[in-house]
Amino acid sequence: MFDLRPETAEDWWEVEALYDLCFAPGREALSSYRLRDGVAPVAGLSLVARDHGGILAGAIRFWPVRVGRAEALLLGPVAVHPTHQGEGLGRLLIQDSLERAREKGWERVMLVGDAPYYGRFGFERLSGVEMPPPTNPERVLGLELRPGAWDHVTGKVTRHA
Ligand SMILES: CC(C)(COP(=O)(O)OP(=O)(O)OC[C@H]1O[C@@H](n2cnc3c(N)ncnc32)[C@H](O)[C@@H]1OP(=O)(O)O)[C@@H](O)C(=O)NCCC(=O)NCCS
Repeated sequence: MFDLRPETAEDWWEVEALYDLCFAPGREALSSYRLRDGVAPVAGLSLVARDHGGILAGAIRFWPVRVGRAEALLLGPVAVHPTHQGEGLGRLLIQDSLERAREKGWERVMLVGDAPYYGRFGFERLSGVEMPPPTNPERVLGLELRPGAWDHVTGKVTRHA
């Protein structure tokens, strides 16, 4: 029902428009965006989903970040157009991109989001991982793509230089 492909440069503004529609105004003021400033999203992992008419229905992006001295993926933003929410597209985008990340050798993923939603994919609260303020620590979640990958990984989350 949906065609999933890696995002290309031509998709960029269409994805931005979808995010503007799906998130509250001022999303770029969030502290997570400071980790994305001037850094390109990870190619091949950021995906767009189009319906049978070619209309953009959902998108997910990933950025590289550092946690202490370790590398991690920052998942997000992920959004599904309101007319397609609840059809499983969010799940498809998240599971497909995480599988691609595992295949490419990424070991750990983090995000700032709702634990009740991301818990379905195995994300758990990360303690000792400090997002730039202001961030509610309860919303800082992580997932291991390799067993034990978050063990002993703590510290401030910083921009990938
Ligand atoms: C969150 C979002 C990406 C989920 O995409 P989706 O395609 O609607 O999700 P799915 O169809 O895979 O899953 C739907 C299920 O997730 C649940 N769900 C969606 N958002 C949730 C949330 N924030 N917290 C808890 N559960 C949530 C739905 O209630 C539904 O539950 P059900 O399966 O028991 O009926 C989408 O709703 C969206 O774009 N929301 C606005 C932007 C946003 O909040 N992005 C996430 C930032 S943290």
